[in-house]
Amino acid sequence: MNTSVPTSLYAQRRARMAAQLGANGIALIPTAPERQRNRDADFLFRHDSYFYYLTGFTEPNAWLVVSGDGTSTLFCQPKDLEREIWDGYRLGPDAAVGALAVQAAFPIGELDARMPRLLENRDTVWFPFATHAGLEERIAGWLGQVRGRVRYGALCPEQQRDLCSVLDEMRLFKDDHELDTMRRAAAISAQAHVRTMKACARMLREGKDVREYHLDAELLHDFRLGGSQYPAYTSIVAAGANACVLHYRADVAPVKSGELVLIDAGCELDGYASDITRTFPANGKFTGPQRALYDIVLASQEAAVAATKPGARFTDPHDAAVKVLSQGMLDVGLLDAKKVGTLDDVIEKRAYFAYYMHRTGHWLGMDVHDCGSYVEPGEVGAVSERKDPLSGELIKNRPSRILRPGMVLTIEPGIYVRPGEGVPEQFHNIGIRIEDDAVVTPQGCELMTRGVPVKADEIEALMRA
Ligand code: GLY
Ligand code: MN
Ligand code: MN
Repeated sequence: MNTSVPTSLYAQRRARMAAQLGANGIALIPTAPERQRNRDADFLFRHDSYFYYLTGFTEPNAWLVVSGDGTSTLFCQPKDLEREIWDGYRLGPDAAVGALAVQAAFPIGELDARMPRLLENRDTVWFPFATHAGLEERIAGWLGQVRGRVRYGALCPEQQRDLCSVLDEMRLFKDDHELDTMRRAAAISAQAHVRTMKACARMLREGKDVREYHLDAELLHDFRLGGSQYPAYTSIVAAGANACVLHYRADVAPVKSGELVLIDAGCELDGYASDITRTFPANGKFTGPQRALYDIVLASQEAAVAATKPGARFTDPHDAAVKVLSQGMLDVGLLDAKKVGTLDDVIEKRAYFAYYMHRTGHWLGMDVHDCGSYVEPGEVGAVSERKDPLSGELIKNRPSRILRPGMVLTIEPGIYVRPGEGVPEQFHNIGIRIEDDAVVTPQGCELMTRGVPVKADEIEALMRA
């Protein structure tokens, strides 16, 4: 259980959700399943984010049921001395009522027996669609049992609705407790990046054989030292050319002096993710070509940060970054103006895509790619069409989300140069991304992850120290 957040906060979230279910609606939210890794060994359990958002409860084998009248029922693991000797403490239904401020709690073994009665005489069943394998079938089984009782006067729910639509919108706007946790997660991750940069330069100075996994170990050390439970996603530690593989993992490749290292790693703290990328010279000193591209990426990130403010669209930071990146690619000769034309042409024809092939950000929260619609809810019907210049595909656009205070997103432009015909050799195999986590404030945005330097000179100074 997350004890740093008052129980009443989860009760308030459940009440806000319940108010959107309709008086006769009912919502079912299971936590995540335990998953076997291989014989007798499970993957480390990670609760379901929706379930956690509404309960703060981190045990496996639990379900939450919330009625439209605001009543919450929890199903959880029963107290069991033998299982607790092997697997650890269980809260148990009796203690859960007070500890989680729910109105009733039952052993999970009673779920199938009790659920048809809970569903009876409701008009709408809400549950998260397409998130839990087998959930739809399970609910259908319970509804079948309710239907079996209609001749005794029971009513069977006639509607099933996606609970994600309600919860995603709530989760998109972070409250003060969430922001506090996210700032702490960000600070731990920033410190881990600092440690890792310094360790890399030091080990190379000492003449050691530095591998990507050595740097991964440095990150993990500080994540755990800071109190984080685990990384929020699989860390990317990419030496040299590996940085051009967008979903590379930390592997065994040697980290060589003269090359760059791209690290995309963030910890999860009390259920909330952080997501930082830094790219730095392994030996602490950028070469000329590395620095030239680095400064372009940094300038593009600065433009994107300036565009991250209330009232702007989610796509504005991306558009701002693309403009600076594209101009930079023309300036340094990655793009040849004789072939691709002016800056406007580069943007219009997406010529920059050869070196910048991902978006500039995503929502961040409990999930690293957090939930929340990227379309402005009031403008869903305003569809426009355009032909993609690269694929020729007809793409339907809806107006992008308007940024508002409390939303959290990443800002992560990059440049990735694979060798190819006409690609200036001095830039071959350079991959650079800079990623920070921003919360939209009334004035603009606050970068939560700047505990790790981002300017080239500051990175060099840090790595000399
Ligand atoms: N680390 C995942 C991402 O940057 O989107
Ligand atoms: Mn990211
Ligand atoms: Mn990332």
